[in-house]
Amino acid sequence: QNIRKVALLGMGTVGGGVYKIIEKQKNELIHKIGAELEISKVLVRNKGKYANLIAPEKLTDQWSDIIEDDSIEIVVEVMGGIEPAATYIKEALQKGKHVVTANKDLIAVQGHELLELAKTNHCDLLFEAAVAGGIPIIRPLNQCLAGNEITEVMGIINGTTNFILTKMSEEGMDFAEALQLATDLGYAEADPTADIEGHDAGRKLAILASLAFNSPVTFQNVYTEGISKISAKDIRYAHELGCEIKLLGIAKNTEDGIEVKVHPTMIPQSHPLAAVNDSYNAVFIHGDAVGDAMFYGRGAGELPTGSAVVGDILDVARNIQFHCTGRIGSSCYKNIPIKDIKE
Ligand code: NAP
Ligand code: HSE
Repeated sequence: QNIRKVALLGMGTVGGGVYKIIEKQKNELIHKIGAELEISKVLVRNKGKYANLIAPEKLTDQWSDIIEDDSIEIVVEVMGGIEPAATYIKEALQKGKHVVTANKDLIAVQGHELLELAKTNHCDLLFEAAVAGGIPIIRPLNQCLAGNEITEVMGIINGTTNFILTKMSEEGMDFAEALQLATDLGYAEADPTADIEGHDAGRKLAILASLAFNSPVTFQNVYTEGISKISAKDIRYAHELGCEIKLLGIAKNTEDGIEVKVHPTMIPQSHPLAAVNDSYNAVFIHGDAVGDAMFYGRGAGELPTGSAVVGDILDVARNIQFHCTGRIGSSCYKNIPIKDIKE
């Protein structure tokens, strides 16, 4: 069999990007993975909404059409939310289907359990798009930098809030107008409270800290403070001091444990992070061997996020071709204590 069949769960901003990239790359993929890739089913709630985009025989609103189809080897979850996404992912893994997801909400709370399930069932569970959209960061941390003891991960990991702060700082736009624009551009979550209050960045930081420090950090361990209280006056004040305000996620492995926090921070305008604007994200990593490394790119949106998801799909397809799986995630956590810094 030289066709790898994929089911897409969700056809919104990210699913749409994945679909477009795979369609565009169709003729190239055989050279990249040694097989053809076919999106054979697309799961949505409201089929009518997608009738002009997807052939009727591929479009379904029934999970049973996917889970019961043994020819589908790869399930791509880009619906979002905890349920039914968690149940679908578990059922897929239990049936030996490989899973790719962009769902940081889910990975940040159940990722450790899901990775165990993937391991038990000899399946891949990949989630590159769950942190920093199009920027490769999960694989670099888990693989390329695995020879380091990583002591710090810090960065701008929410595109919506960075977009809002940029528009407020550069164009004097008001908060609500900038948020509406970020929503229209497909950056914001279905409920943008998660972006604005720092929860989305907190979830991504938990995922990064788990990989960086090889310990099971979850969203519950992260102190979060968002940007909803930042006013035009605060931004003017920061400018007077030669600074920009950015929402930073900071994870440190200190002598007395792991510290994970998200909060607005004043950064000198000369600092590289101060120049990270719009929906761009940037992540700094300090490792004992590599020193400082910085990753920069588009942190949200249809094609950047689709790029990360498709990269994962191709990796899974290649793994199936070459009979190897399970290359992301920890085999054996260190369980470093995690500091309680909620207050
Ligand atoms: P979205 O635009 O709201 O699209 C969600 C899609 O999933 C829609 O097609 C929706 O179908 C479908 N869906 C939702 N619940 C469903 C259910 N219970 N059963 C079947 N279909 C369902 O969301 P998105 O922005 O693409 O985000 C998807 C995921 O990617 C989320 O986990 C998000 O956090 C993550 N992510 C997003 C970005 C970004 O830039 N947007 C970046 C990185 C990660 P209907 O229209 O029929 O309801
Ligand atoms: N809402 C998220 C953001 C999408 O603005 O960064 C990408 O994870």
